[in-house]
Amino acid sequence: MAFNTPLPPFAAIVVAAGKGQRSGQSVPKQFAIWRGKPVIRHSVETLMQAGAAPMAVVIARDAEEQARDALTGLAGYELVVGGETRQQSVANALEHLDAAAPSSVLIHDAARPMLPLAVIDRLLAALQTQPGAIPVLPVIDSLAIASDGFMTGTADRGALRRVQTPQAFRFGPILAAHRNWSGEPNAGDDAQVLRADGGDVALVDGDEALKKLTVAEDFMNERPYIRTGQGFD
Ligand code: CTP
Ligand code: MG
Repeated sequence: MAFNTPLPPFAAIVVAAGKGQRSGQSVPKQFAIWRGKPVIRHSVETLMQAGAAPMAVVIARDAEEQARDALTGLAGYELVVGGETRQQSVANALEHLDAAAPSSVLIHDAARPMLPLAVIDRLLAALQTQPGAIPVLPVIDSLAIASDGFMTGTADRGALRRVQTPQAFRFGPILAAHRNWSGEPNAGDDAQVLRADGGDVALVDGDEALKKLTVAEDFMNERPYIRTGQGFD
C-alpha cells in the first residue's frame, strides 16, 4: 500500500532486547526466521519504508552480532543497549533519541513482524491532535473472572480493548513520562506510562496482522530457511 499524502516526520524505536523465553526457539525469537526473514527484519524494513528516522533498535548487550546479521544490508538504524524490562529498554532508547530532538516517535515490539502501513497512517493522523495514540482491537470472546479454577464472575468486554504496537507519541511527553514513572519498573506498555503522567491516549483501529509472536505454536509451519550468505531479500 502506498501513501496518498506524505507522512509527517517521525522517529522509531524497535524493542528487541528480550529473551523470548516462551517461544521455545534456539535464539531469542526476534532473531528466529519467520516467513523467510528474521522476525525483527520485517518491521524494521516496514518502518524504513514509511520513512522513520532516526530509528533506534534496542538489543541485549551481547546481541550486536546477531542484530547486525539479521539487519544485514539495511542502513538507517542505530543499536541501543536495552534493560532488564521492556520499559527500561524503551527508556534507554528515548534517552538516546533525545539528542536528535524528534517531534514524535513510534515504539514497536520487534516480535510483531507484520506491520500494516495503514496502521502507521492512522497513528500519525491521531498524533496531530493528541500526545499519544495506540492501535487496539475489540475483545470477541466472553471474559470470565477466574479464581482457583472456578469462574467467579464475568467482565464486561464492551469497554475492553486488546492493545497492540506500534504506539505513537509526541516525543517530549513520552520522554517526560518515562522519566517521571514511579510505579513498578515493568509497565506493560508505553501508553500506560503516558497515562500515569496525565497524557491522553487516543485509540485507533489495530489489525489482527499485528499479532505478537510469543509461543512455540506461533513459529510452527515455518519452512526451514537456509542462509546463502547473501543476506535476505
Ligand atoms: N523486550 C525488550 N527488553 C526487555 C524485554 C522485552 O526490548 N527487557 C522486547 C522484546 O524483545 C519484544 C517486546 O519487548 O520485542 C515484547 O516483549 P515480549 O513479547 O514479552 O518478549 P520477550 O520478553 O523477549 O519474551 P518472553 O517474555 O517470552 O521471554
Ligand atoms: Mg517478556
